[in-house]
Amino acid sequence: MAQIQWFPGHMAKAKRQISERMKVIDIVIELVDARAPYSSKNPMINEIVKNKPRLIVLTKKDMADEQITAKWVRYYESLGYQSMSVNLKNFNEYQKIIEKCRKVLKPKMEKELSRGLKPRAIRAMVLGIPNVGKSTFINKLANRKATVTGNRPGVTKAQQMIKVDKDFELFDTPGVLWPKFDNEQVAKNIALLGSIKQTILPLDDLFIEAMKYLTIHYPEVLKQRYQLEIDLDHPDWLLETFDHIAQLRKIKPLKGETDYDRVMALFFSEINDGSIGRITWEEPACVND
Ligand code: G4P
Repeated sequence: MAQIQWFPGHMAKAKRQISERMKVIDIVIELVDARAPYSSKNPMINEIVKNKPRLIVLTKKDMADEQITAKWVRYYESLGYQSMSVNLKNFNEYQKIIEKCRKVLKPKMEKELSRGLKPRAIRAMVLGIPNVGKSTFINKLANRKATVTGNRPGVTKAQQMIKVDKDFELFDTPGVLWPKFDNEQVAKNIALLGSIKQTILPLDDLFIEAMKYLTIHYPEVLKQRYQLEIDLDHPDWLLETFDHIAQLRKIKPLKGETDYDRVMALFFSEINDGSIGRITWEEPACVND
């Protein structure tokens, strides 16, 4: 789990270093989490990337609601970006990303050739907030086990281009950007992705919010995973939900009472790792970005 403390100095440094890299690359591959494709974006990404071609890749599509993911891809395309969704655990998907980059840059490369410039490889860089899959993406393409960087703000000094194939190169370290700190809704969504310990809500509030959301949007998931059918109008729905999950999962009582902390820990870990089922926490209609 990413544990970066983002201070203004870190943000300024990350922005500066990434802007510097921007000069030598042809395309930015911006990774966001398909389960919250707005909340998991860096808030200053437009300013950082400016008008460099950008592909917005929604990762972890295997954990997200398929229909809403399709809406998000259309939404980003409607804003003029190239966009697609992937499961980075599936190596077949990598080639699709590279193909899309090639397609976007075809006119530029053809123009260079017609001006008599030598054929060259496309240069790409991966950007995103912690835990969206940057290292997974780079490591798979570089055929190695772990990134050299870890999750440090900005980029590291020892930068190299990885030659993925004869006409596609990638920076070997990702650009690590800070998450949004905008409002409670965004903080809640990011906390539910389990990527960043960034929450301005106490855990029990997050539990209540998540349960309400799931009851309204994914009742079938609650039923399947916990045999739960919640009536939000019932005054005791919350306590009953805690008791029900504790009993179902045989969580031992604490001093004769349901162990609420363990119920919450179990619930959040199943949400974070996707074992609860495919869930998306926000729809394009909710944003005005
Ligand atoms: P980062 O560099 O942006 O911080 O993210 P990183 O690649 O470390 O990925 C964070 C976690 O998300 C990893 O899980 C990674 O395997 C998982 N992940 C990335 N993309 C996908 C995807 O498309 N689908 C699924 N299901 N998972 C994805 P981890 O638990 O930290 O490590 P591990 O499972 O690889 O051991």
